[in-house]
Amino acid sequence: MLAIEFSLVHATSLVLLCLCFWRIGRWKSHDHDHSKGRAPRGSLGWPLIGETLQFVAANNSCKGFYDFVQTRRIRYGNCFKTNIFGKTHVFISGTKSARAVLSNDFCIFSKSYMRSIAELVGDESILCAFHHEQHQLLRNVLTSFFSVEAISVFIRHFDELTKKALHSWEKRGTVVVLEEALKITFNAMCKMLMSLEESNELEMLRKDVAQVFEAMLAFPINLPWTAFHKGLKARKKIENALANIINERRRVVEYSNEQDLLQFLLSGEKSTNGPLLPSFTDKQIQDNILTLIIAGQETTANAITWMMKYLDENQDVQETLRDEQLKIEEKSRASSLTADDLNKMSYASKVVKESLRMASIVPWFPRVALEDCKLEGFKIRKGWVINIDAKAIHLDSSVYQDPTRFHPPRSCQSPIASWRSEQGREHALE
Ligand code: HEM
Repeated sequence: MLAIEFSLVHATSLVLLCLCFWRIGRWKSHDHDHSKGRAPRGSLGWPLIGETLQFVAANNSCKGFYDFVQTRRIRYGNCFKTNIFGKTHVFISGTKSARAVLSNDFCIFSKSYMRSIAELVGDESILCAFHHEQHQLLRNVLTSFFSVEAISVFIRHFDELTKKALHSWEKRGTVVVLEEALKITFNAMCKMLMSLEESNELEMLRKDVAQVFEAMLAFPINLPWTAFHKGLKARKKIENALANIINERRRVVEYSNEQDLLQFLLSGEKSTNGPLLPSFTDKQIQDNILTLIIAGQETTANAITWMMKYLDENQDVQETLRDEQLKIEEKSRASSLTADDLNKMSYASKVVKESLRMASIVPWFPRVALEDCKLEGFKIRKGWVINIDAKAIHLDSSVYQDPTRFHPPRSCQSPIASWRSEQGREHALE
């Protein structure tokens, strides 16, 4: 008995000693790297788990994701490294480097979402298309759906859903804006993608999608009580629901006149520049519909919520915005909002952009370095993941004058022009 205890003590001390040596070794090597101006500063945390626990904890706390980043930026500077989810991550907050990383898509840097995200949204999703041709193909197909006609139909639907929600709010004492916005944007996305309208089926899908989203930045351990496990289970249910919807539509695709993405993909319509769409497998359709629901629902609902907060805090902006809306309403003959009306909302567009700048809604769009390179004067190794610290840039006083002031006039592009130039990619990083 004594012998077993003794060897246990030995084994434990040995492990602890190894850990100490490992940490000291790594700490020394960081310091060495730094003194030669090679690798960015930062801690790689504990073996295997790195600083993942701290990252997940910050993300689940009320402080959020950026607390993890900000604490380290203050400690190590504008370019620092850490280790999360088993990989070395570098965070940068210089505008030049940010542009370099984003404009170098697939040359030196490629998309790099975590393996666990691929398990949740599906590896045929556009988010997991790590090869340029494959990504370009998916992007072209998905963006060619958003023609002016499709956008016009979508604007009408969104307007109807918003009006309906606003009427129902009038009768209620308290409304939690984010919850309500999430319902509106979810319904809008499902209508646009698959013509699904309010029903029990839609409500179940909404709950499952919320679980998948929650699991995306959770610790990726698949045990019955973890958020990740619940996310995977919800994904399975979504997969089955989408498979039924796709089967059903395939049966009637020739006679159906739905104006949604599913119809567009299944009927193989001509894209704007001529050639027929490539045929998509059911799995590709399922994964990308789920991705689009998540990408469109959460971002837009968060943007609406933050915008309402900023408008409440800035009554002068609210008044100017209301004047613009009332003038458009006076002149417009249509009962629903049209694309033409939207084009006249130049001040509203600035309010949206300013809200996106202040709130930095999309926290994470990682890229992997495909070769050794230099960023901010530091050496970046092939395989490291580069993350742009969008919030630091958005609130940088050398980029924006008085950055914490909500001041919509600072943005001056017209809504449609900027929508076209952004193409769903760089809109949070101007
Ligand atoms: C306020 C609303 C939105 C914001 C702030 C936003 C922000 C972003 C950002 C920053 C990215 C870049 C991710 C990266 O490069 O890794 C992105 C990508 C994407 N977004 Fe949005 N987005 C919004 C609305 C939407 C909507 C409504 C949809 C769908 C209809 C959508 C679909 C996508 C897709 C599919 C991608 C991936 C594009 C690719 O990999 O090429 N987003 N979005």
